[in-house]
Amino acid sequence: MKTIGIGMVGTGFMARVHSLAYTALPFYKWPLVVSPRMAVIADIDSELAAEGARRYGYARSTNDWRQVIEDPDVDVVDILTPNNLHAEMAIAAARRGKHVICEKPLACNAREAQEMYDAVTRAGVHHMVGYNYRRTPAVAEAKKLIGRGDLGRVFHFRGTYLQDFGIDPRLPLWWRFQKSQAGSGSLGDIGSHVLDLALHLVGDVEFVTAISRTFIPERPLMTAKPNFLSTAGAGFAVTEPDEMGRVDVDDVTAILLEFAGGATGTLEATRFAAGRKNHLGFEINGEKGSLAFDWEHPAELRYYNATDPSDTQGFKTILTGPQHPNGELLWPLAGFGLGFPEPIIVMMNEFLEELGGGPRQSTGFEAGVKNSRVMDAVVCSVTSGKKERVS
Ligand SMILES: NC(=O)c1ccc[n+]([C@@H]2O[C@H](COP(=O)([O-])OP(=O)(O)OC[C@H]3O[C@@H](n4cnc5c(N)ncnc54)[C@H](O)[C@@H]3O)[C@@H](O)[C@H]2O)c1
Repeated sequence: MKTIGIGMVGTGFMARVHSLAYTALPFYKWPLVVSPRMAVIADIDSELAAEGARRYGYARSTNDWRQVIEDPDVDVVDILTPNNLHAEMAIAAARRGKHVICEKPLACNAREAQEMYDAVTRAGVHHMVGYNYRRTPAVAEAKKLIGRGDLGRVFHFRGTYLQDFGIDPRLPLWWRFQKSQAGSGSLGDIGSHVLDLALHLVGDVEFVTAISRTFIPERPLMTAKPNFLSTAGAGFAVTEPDEMGRVDVDDVTAILLEFAGGATGTLEATRFAAGRKNHLGFEINGEKGSLAFDWEHPAELRYYNATDPSDTQGFKTILTGPQHPNGELLWPLAGFGLGFPEPIIVMMNEFLEELGGGPRQSTGFEAGVKNSRVMDAVVCSVTSGKKERVS
């Protein structure tokens, strides 16, 4: 079996999940065409890097991401850092001939995202962006039904990504609250995921009109170093206000979408929806039926078929399993449930199969560029107060 060396940059939340996915792959699929080999992990903090190597099973650690890119044992560079670092790292990796996986949002703006796409295509390397939710069997089933024409003409997409972790004012000014590191707030952090589902399921967006708000404009400066490895959640305890710093990103962004195909849409991304922990949801309404999904029930797709007899019409729940797209890789029966890592396991399997000579199936950087173009138009609309065209 061919092995492929993984070089990971970052040791935080998503490094944990990507590492878990590489390690778990043989438990889902055997034999593998290409087997991942955990070569090296980097973090700007050498203690975190060393602890990450021990915990996740990498052979070496470093506090310099450039060593990952230069390492002859590394074939794939997997970038899991704050968003402002993605472009420099991905472009350098592509120039060294490494395949690149990069978390979303691909970059802080469309110009950077395009440069990343140009670099990977020029280098002829494989590339994938972390739009994991697309790979959920229920979402893949929705894609299949829409593609088959079961909904007929699509009229509406109604998408939300709701969390509530931002409500606590003692949560410190971590990178997700700073434009210089995150690019944007709720918009890029979670809005880009639901936007990805809109683009994937309904098609290109032509115009946007958007508003945003920052409800908590100042947060306590971080006093202690975060430890993303040893604690749950964000990796640090909430702190009592001491010295404060300015939050310069959106806490909520709400968007009206006009799709090129004629459908209309709404999209809301917020970290201030009390009680909503990871409510990534959508409803799509077409002339022959509707589909609804909510990540808080990730194995379920709700389907309304308008051609059912009128006395039995109503939404039904499809419990996804091996008979649905991507489900065959997971468990042998519907009803065994689904967790956050499974769609990422599907993603990694697709990518490694491509490296083994299989057909292109993963979500490449082009999806990140398209997403960033819509987000740039959203930012313009928030500033101008007007409807903006997506370039
Ligand atoms: N696909 C998803 O569902 C999903 C979910 C969460 C986050 N993300 C994305 O994943 C990325 C990482 O997010 P996270 O939640 O893991 O963040 P995190 O804060 O938990 O981890 C970031 C890590 O990057 C390290 N780092 C910072 N600067 C570095 C540098 N110069 N060199 C090496 N390491 C450096 C930090 O020390 C930390 O270990 C972000 O782009 C985020 O948007 C995606």
